Amino acid sequence: MAFHGSVAVVTGGASGIGLAMSRRLVELGAKVIVADINQEAGEVAAASLGAEFFLVDVSDLASVQALVDETAQQHGRIDYLFNNAGIAIVGSVRDTPVNDWYRVFDINVRGVVHGIDAAYPLFIKQGFGHIVNTASIAGLIPCPGLVAYSASKHAVVGISTGLRAEAAKHGIKVSVVCPGFVRTPILDNASVNGRSLDSAKKKIPWAEPDEVAREVLRGVARNKPVIVVTRHGKVLTQLHRLAPAAMRWATSRLR
Ligand SMILES: NC(=O)c1ccc[n+]([C@@H]2O[C@H](COP(=O)([O-])OP(=O)(O)OC[C@H]3O[C@@H](n4cnc5c(N)ncnc54)[C@H](O)[C@@H]3O)[C@@H](O)[C@H]2O)c1
Repeated sequence: MAFHGSVAVVTGGASGIGLAMSRRLVELGAKVIVADINQEAGEVAAASLGAEFFLVDVSDLASVQALVDETAQQHGRIDYLFNNAGIAIVGSVRDTPVNDWYRVFDINVRGVVHGIDAAYPLFIKQGFGHIVNTASIAGLIPCPGLVAYSASKHAVVGISTGLRAEAAKHGIKVSVVCPGFVRTPILDNASVNGRSLDSAKKKIPWAEPDEVAREVLRGVARNKPVIVVTRHGKVLTQLHRLAPAAMRWATSRLR
């Protein structure tokens, strides 16, 4: 019911979690705008879902502003903004070039900031709107071997929980999504420094994007502040909450 007849913008909607959320939103009766930097995949995805496609680079504020302005103009409002586009950077800090730090912050952090900067004034004017930022369990727990990515996702969690408290007085909701490992092409497109992921990929307990999307949207409909999804994601974040020293010890032994 929460999504029926709503207007939802999903960045990174051409692939993986964004594509699965777009599909589920269409099933639930939303008008969906799949927004992505990958034009070909985005157009194919949107056509197959019965959604619209908008070419966007979330690292560019003007591009995100155009997405928000044109969507609002065409549909009269935006109900949901899913700031979901993101990339991964893998490797120890020793092996991570500074340009990879900049790239992951440009997309994962500035991408979210741009979505907020573009849509928040509109949402304040409307008196409603729900911002849903995709972080990761890497934004909640220590992640050796993923420090740059994890830092970007900690920033997204901090932005989201703080903004939620500020935005409530305007009638605006803010949620942050923290998935564990989800079977998407994210690692195929990642910068991987100083190691190979072949054996790790086989050991990862991947969750499926469609089931993740269902759980995320149930959390959004309930206006949950932090939506932790995947079974292993829940176990790890609980462990970190209840026994942070043990978690630090365990993760310090990972390579
Ligand atoms: N897959 C996982 O295990 C996992 C776990 C936790 C969090 N996440 C997060 O979920 C989100 C989606 O990741 P995914 O796994 O579906 O990855 P994915 O690679 O399948 O999809 C990411 C999408 O974002 C798009 N994108 C990348 N840069 C962009 C830019 N500058 N502007 C617009 N679009 C851009 C890509 O073209 C792609 O369609 C990311 O924020 C990611 O960090 C993923």
